[in-house]
Amino acid sequence: MSILVPRPGIMEISPYVPGESEIEGAERLIKLSANEGALGPSPLAVEAYRSTAAEAHRYPDGDSTALREAIAARYGLDADRIVCGAGSDELLTLLARSYAGPGDEIMFGEHAFVMYPLIALSAGATPVKVAETDYTLDVDALLDRMTERTRMVYVANPNNPTGTCISADEVARLRAGLREDILLVIDAAYAEYVTRNDYSPGIGLVDAGDNVVMTRTFSKIYALGGARLGWAYCPPSIVDVLNRVRSPFNINIAAQAAGIAAVNDVEFVTRSRDHNTAWLPWLSERLAEAGISVVPSAGNFVLGRFPRDGGRTAAEAIAFLKTRGIIPRSAAGAGIPDGVRITVGLEEEMRMTAEAIAEFMEPS
Ligand SMILES: Cc1ncc(COP(=O)(O)O)c(C=O)c1O
Repeated sequence: MSILVPRPGIMEISPYVPGESEIEGAERLIKLSANEGALGPSPLAVEAYRSTAAEAHRYPDGDSTALREAIAARYGLDADRIVCGAGSDELLTLLARSYAGPGDEIMFGEHAFVMYPLIALSAGATPVKVAETDYTLDVDALLDRMTERTRMVYVANPNNPTGTCISADEVARLRAGLREDILLVIDAAYAEYVTRNDYSPGIGLVDAGDNVVMTRTFSKIYALGGARLGWAYCPPSIVDVLNRVRSPFNINIAAQAAGIAAVNDVEFVTRSRDHNTAWLPWLSERLAEAGISVVPSAGNFVLGRFPRDGGRTAAEAIAFLKTRGIIPRSAAGAGIPDGVRITVGLEEEMRMTAEAIAEFMEPS
């Protein structure tokens, strides 16, 4: 046994388990396990990604300047307040490692994105799960649970795997109720899909103070998960901190080029959003018709809650779908053992999934 001992908390981490992407023996796969954008990346992003290959011997721009400027132009922000990360995961992790440590608490909802507890432990901090109401973040419960030790709160809005989101007013109420020395991280990975008109990804709250950060990703609507690209919009003091702790060349040249092309391909993003706006309710309705309890989703996926017994459990549903080449994602890791999360895919994939689920749920 090694005499090297990692910092407290590290060995409590159960390594993240990604959505499955293979089924042995299956010819055709329908991967609906990782909330990847249904239409794939913009062809312009693919072309931009390829175009960097011959320059792969050169280090990338360590500040991702052109990418930050493209994001800033698209979202109406100041490029100096944006920091890019190798996926938003990197930024979410660096924030915890910078602002919390042993003895500190990091709060989030009971069914929040499964990375948050791992991130808290990797910083040596204590993860604190706070009860939700109807699979939705409960602002009062979070405020009640705040202690002297609370240092950070993660709010995934919309949340994964539940798909639920809270209104801009509720997020503002949370911010207003938190002490000034607590960092509120609004993880808006699915913001581009949201159609609710009481929603805001949180830009206004970042602008209004020093203690709010919004994170975004290129992995969902931009469908560039494999390129690992995310960004954070921050107060200047947090930009400074993130730029000290991130690695100097954290975004490779291909990802920078693809990100710029993707964010500029507005027509493609609109098409991806429209696709989701059509097929998310369609899929949700088919699940409900089959007798599954559906949690209303604002993202590009839906959480169905299956019966707890009688041969129609979530685990049995997943096994059945896999026999059809369809890979959904269990929500057990987020404390929802009867939950199966299904990503919105292409039309044919959605029709095949709905058919398989109807068959699975048919009374025998
Ligand atoms: C809520 C939420 N936040 C963050 C991420 C991380 O995304 P990435 O690191 O690919 O940017 C995900 C990915 O599934 C997510 O669902």
